[in-house]
Amino acid sequence: MSKITAAITAVNGYVPDYVLTNKELETMIDTTDEWITSRTGIKERRILKGEGKGSSDMGAKAVEGLCKKRGISPEEIDLLICCTVTADYIFPATANLITDKIGAKNAFSYDLNAACSGFLYGLVTASKFVESGSHKKVVVVGVDKMSSIIDYEDRTTCIIFGDGGGAVLLEPNEEGLGIQDSILKSDGSGFQHLHQKAGGSAYPPSLETVKSKLHYVYQEGQSVFKFAVTNMADVSAEIMEKNKLTADDVAWLVPHQANKRIIDATARRMGVGDEKVMLNIERYGNTTSGTIPLCLWEWEKQLKKGDNIILAAFGGGFTWGSIWIKWAYNS
Ligand code: UT7
Repeated sequence: MSKITAAITAVNGYVPDYVLTNKELETMIDTTDEWITSRTGIKERRILKGEGKGSSDMGAKAVEGLCKKRGISPEEIDLLICCTVTADYIFPATANLITDKIGAKNAFSYDLNAACSGFLYGLVTASKFVESGSHKKVVVVGVDKMSSIIDYEDRTTCIIFGDGGGAVLLEPNEEGLGIQDSILKSDGSGFQHLHQKAGGSAYPPSLETVKSKLHYVYQEGQSVFKFAVTNMADVSAEIMEKNKLTADDVAWLVPHQANKRIIDATARRMGVGDEKVMLNIERYGNTTSGTIPLCLWEWEKQLKKGDNIILAAFGGGFTWGSIWIKWAYNS
């Protein structure tokens, strides 16, 4: 019997309607469209509006559409993993809320937090359930409502982040397509450069933490930038070398969308031309766990069965990694 691999068989994305442009940010903080565009590549990002709306609402929309595209009922999903740093609640898991909202009654579900590398970690975790034969329809959601933890008076962070996400379905494949290899890394000493200071068990919410704005993303931009450029490029080159892939063999690079300059450096290090790089940062900014599935969703029609695709990300933790996929279908 041939070996079972885990292949993506459908992709879907969701972004909220409200568009926060650089022009609007110019009216809120001391910045310019020119500065944001040249330093990050971002022109606009989406914001989820509405009382009580959370990441699960966007995730549920993405998964509902995913099931329709694949022609399956949500009840056929065996497992759903939601990768997010902006869970609706501290508990229960956002994944539990999504499965309830869509009627995925037969799935067990849990959250996974690896910040901007969350979707990569989730995909690798999910693939093990499929490869082992224990689960046949596994959904990985990458979604974040970053606007819920962003200080819109802090011009160094509020310009980057946006809301949105996507989902993929993983199923067994007997043609050797799907996930081929992965390298995942983490280094908790990077914590100090990028984190949310309060709201967890170390510093629970109090009047003081709210007054001191400790519930927002704290990021030392330049330090994170340096680590991101080096590590995302290194791990992308490493997966190519490990698997003897040349730049010609690679059809697409799907990078985490944090800063266009980090993406350019990664593509250069791999020797991959700009025409092979998925880039939608100008429209969505950094949606944390959402960037990679949003790219796959937008480029799905251009992907061909057998294409070699490299996914790469770097983020809070620090966490980083790369995955080599052989795309499994023509749409
Ligand atoms: O996805 C998770 C991982 N996160 C990342 O990968 C983010 C990595 N970091 C970055 O993308 C960049 O560091 C930022 C986009 C956050 C900042 O860009 P930068 O080129 O590193 O800017 P900087 O922080 O070094 O600041 C340069 C100058 C400063 O002014 P002075 O001190 O040179 O006078 C800042 O005050 O730019 C100023 N500045 C701004 N000016 C206009 C910072 N933010 C802004 C702004 N508008 N929004």
